[in-house]
Amino acid sequence: MKLLGIESSCDETAAAVVEDGRIIHSNVVASQIAEHRLYGGVVPEIASRRHSEAIVGVTEEALQQAGCTLRDIDAIAVTYAPGLIGALLVGVNFAKGLSLSTGLPLIPVHHLRSHIASNYLSHPELEPPFLCLVVSGGHTHIVQVTDYTKMKIIGCTRDDAAGEAFDKAARSMGMPYPGGVHLDEIAETGDDHAFSLPHPKVSGAPYDFSFSGLKTAVINLLHNAQQKGQTLPVNDLSASFRRAVVDCLTKNVTKAMEALSMDKLVIAGGVSANRLVRREFDRICRERGWTLCVPELSLCGDNAAMVAAQGYYEFLSGSRATMGLNACAAMTIE
Ligand code: KG4
Ligand code: ZN
Repeated sequence: MKLLGIESSCDETAAAVVEDGRIIHSNVVASQIAEHRLYGGVVPEIASRRHSEAIVGVTEEALQQAGCTLRDIDAIAVTYAPGLIGALLVGVNFAKGLSLSTGLPLIPVHHLRSHIASNYLSHPELEPPFLCLVVSGGHTHIVQVTDYTKMKIIGCTRDDAAGEAFDKAARSMGMPYPGGVHLDEIAETGDDHAFSLPHPKVSGAPYDFSFSGLKTAVINLLHNAQQKGQTLPVNDLSASFRRAVVDCLTKNVTKAMEALSMDKLVIAGGVSANRLVRREFDRICRERGWTLCVPELSLCGDNAAMVAAQGYYEFLSGSRATMGLNACAAMTIE
């Protein structure tokens, strides 16, 4: 069964053709990052307008690269929540139009569920149940995935998401948007013990995270140095910050894995591309004999192959959208 996936939740317009939730026939992503970089972050109105301009061409290219026409497609999967509302509406309305004109079933897909599904594309043998750390720009969750469409949140961030904290810390050090990837790169050359940063815990909630204090600690260090006319070594500060974030992630996830007696761990979302995230979870899982799945780098960020992959399992579970489908800026993954 071939699904056409459509994604427009933030600053990437994407379309893809995926077979049976596992085989990628095409995966086209048009990124708007260069334009948003001028403003230091995503400008929602610009994002919506660029999606409107790009979505038809991106979809045509995805069909063409897959060697298909709409006649070869069995269903359309679209991201409908969560994300920037104006951006989501472009994909949702485009997908509704396609569904209406072709008669193909329309499957609504939750963005974070689709990030998890990127692992079904990278790891053909992966099946639920497993525990998943979802680390993106807008969310940080520990999710118990009991089946392809059944999920329970075990822990989440109380303030900033991990990706957001990476981006804000990077911005305060003068790196361009989105800073997470730049901070990660420069941290590779730094000493992660150079600065002593807080490792915030949420009292009474062992699986929850809090990253905003950590981000503020970095900003305060930079301000204090600036006032004294000093400059701080950005590679050491990046390495220390990255170490603190990753220590918080690994500590809570390890506790949750042990408490739930799980032996399969999956990482998903943009921050799963982080080098230290990948190295540390790899080390922990090897030591404990747990299976670890992380998406290949090209599937860590927003794309539509993951939407089509999750859409397949949502289709099998009976999910169908009507022409009344609306986009939603916030929605739980459960
Ligand atoms: O999942 P994603 O593409 O979009 C959302 O759904 O939010 O995640 C984007 C986030 C951004 O905050 C970006 O800076 C972060 O993922 N990111 C990274 C790295 N690559 C992307 N953060 C740290 N290290 C990286 N290598
Ligand atoms: Zn995302």
